[in-house]
Amino acid sequence: MQLAARVDLVSPSLTLAIDAKAKALKAEGVDVCSFSAGEPDFDTPAHIREAAKTALDQGKTRYGPAAGEPALRAAIATKLHQDNQLPFTPDQVLVTNGGKHSLYNLMMALLSAGDEVVIPSPYWVSYPEMVKLAQGVPVLVPTEERHGYRITPEQLAATLTPKTKLLVLNSPSNPTGMVYTPAEIRAITAVLLQHPQVQVVSDEIYEKIIYGDAEHLSIGAVGPELFARTFVSSGFAKAYAMTGWRIGYLAGDRDVIRAATKIQGHSTSNVCTFAQFGAIAALTGPQDCVETMRRAFAERRDVIYDLVTSIPRLTCIKPNGAFYLFVNISALGLSSLEFCQRLLEEKQVAVIPGVAFGRDDTVRLSYATDLDTIRRGCDRLREFVLGL
Ligand SMILES: Cc1ncc(COP(=O)(O)O)c(C=O)c1O
Repeated sequence: MQLAARVDLVSPSLTLAIDAKAKALKAEGVDVCSFSAGEPDFDTPAHIREAAKTALDQGKTRYGPAAGEPALRAAIATKLHQDNQLPFTPDQVLVTNGGKHSLYNLMMALLSAGDEVVIPSPYWVSYPEMVKLAQGVPVLVPTEERHGYRITPEQLAATLTPKTKLLVLNSPSNPTGMVYTPAEIRAITAVLLQHPQVQVVSDEIYEKIIYGDAEHLSIGAVGPELFARTFVSSGFAKAYAMTGWRIGYLAGDRDVIRAATKIQGHSTSNVCTFAQFGAIAALTGPQDCVETMRRAFAERRDVIYDLVTSIPRLTCIKPNGAFYLFVNISALGLSSLEFCQRLLEEKQVAVIPGVAFGRDDTVRLSYATDLDTIRRGCDRLREFVLGL
């Protein structure tokens, strides 16, 4: 069968493929230590589950408005205002099937053929693929481990062209765990103010998972001029352990949100109605569950960072956000895919090859798993590296 040409534009998601292999081995009874999944290992908090169950019992089982339940759009606007100092109104919010879908809708609504989208690298796997599907051109900007994988204002200034339509920022970052400081966000803003044609999408899905003295500043909060050009993409998956619920959102310019809603109206329509009531409870209910999970991630970060950096020939930055350790394996002389395949086959440890994020000399370990798995997995990783 002749497939559409666009299929060849995109690569299959390597992160999902390794995770599937690790799960298949586990299902066969193999003792796998998995650091592959980008999802919290906690249950969705009880009050959120209850709210969705109640919504089901109340018959919230029908089609709703394509842009989302009005009460959820309002709760998201309030959250963005209160937590992030972003004065979005509910009609500037689109509820989507996860953060992934919010970004996809944005690319589809914003990009014309040939528009350039600047993506600091390493990047979350789906950004370049979405850009290509929307006929845009991903412009990858390599960042350095010694700069903590941050794009510098100089690099950004040198990359922007009259064709640049969009900059993708992701802080806290998947895969590196880096968090831009407020000063760095302001420096990026200063560059963007010189280029009025450039919009920015800030993927803030890990904003609640930060450690130590890291501070999350949304770029749209720096000033009104940039606010008007900022889109925020986020979701409930990470902070509230709701990966399978598939609820995210996009906030930004009213016309673009209207356009993205039109596209969503012809593709998925509204997000599962009763699930949206769970999301309302997540935002309006008690927030201590978010802090409890954050603390658990913080403890695991300290443990895994110490264990991995004690292994000879491996280096990594200390992450101050999200739940990933981005490990440099360049001293080992293996490609990231070879490393991951051999580690899984020989030691039954699953990690993600950095090539999926644009860096073939790295691998990503997710520490959204229990401390026992972290300790056992790191022991095996040590044995593997020492045996090379
Ligand atoms: C940086 C980043 N953005 C967006 C997403 C999408 O999240 P979801 O579609 O599950 O809400 C993820 C998920 O792994 C992510 O890591």
